[in-house]
Amino acid sequence: MLYPRLQPGTMAPPGQRLPGFEDLIMPFQLHLRKRFAARFIGGKNDGYESIVAPYKRRLFSDLHGDVLEIGPGGGANLAYYPRHIRWVGVEPNPFMHKYLRAEAGRLGLQPELRSGVAERLDVPDDSVDALVGTLVLCSVSDQQAALREVLRVLKPGGRYLFVEHVAAARGTRLRRLQNWIRPLWQFVGDGCQPNRDTGAVIEQAGFSSVRYERFSVAVTIAGPHIAGLAVK
Ligand SMILES: C[S@@+](CC[C@H](N)C(=O)[O-])C[C@H]1O[C@@H](n2cnc3c(N)ncnc32)[C@H](O)[C@@H]1O
Repeated sequence: MLYPRLQPGTMAPPGQRLPGFEDLIMPFQLHLRKRFAARFIGGKNDGYESIVAPYKRRLFSDLHGDVLEIGPGGGANLAYYPRHIRWVGVEPNPFMHKYLRAEAGRLGLQPELRSGVAERLDVPDDSVDALVGTLVLCSVSDQQAALREVLRVLKPGGRYLFVEHVAAARGTRLRRLQNWIRPLWQFVGDGCQPNRDTGAVIEQAGFSSVRYERFSVAVTIAGPHIAGLAVK
């Protein structure tokens, strides 16, 4: 149900308040934002993809076994995966699912797609060979919790492969711009925060090794990127 149902003349139980305008509008607003995000992120961005493609090819080409992807969105990574892997995607935005299924259909794949969030994965401990996340840690509500889950579900020696846009270096004009625009960017961009120091957070998460390289794409605010892998 999209809106809470109000009964005329209903009194709030003692100690509770009646739903106000914000309670009515929030679910609707969230619904619209999720739809909007799916519309604009779900489709393919060929310009962006051509820049990140070499990094993704290097990271994903030798994947094997059970692979879990968090926040796969519209399935931008599906085309890079070897055919023999067993892939499961965990995508919280239900409006994204049709874009991912369309991309999978185009590639002749039948993916297992689940709802859920990276911070609470319904996946057993030590069960996946690799976990992939691209442009996801900018949006999760709790990066540390998501990375704890990554570590929990990976088999010992399993790999976490990531491509993320990150904060610019401290003291730069771009970093100040990222800090300044963050509230609006986060609202319009379905939770995305451009000023997160994601590389440092991954380094401190408790992996046995972390390796990544920095590069930049043309989009200024979300231009600085990292791509790499961490081993459990
Ligand atoms: C910018 S999109 C990136 C989509 C895709 N990974 C790509 O590279 O094109 C961010 C994705 O993360 C998902 N997301 C947001 N919060 C999440 C969370 N807490 N757990 C898992 N996925 C999340 C969004 O629904 C969206 O699909």
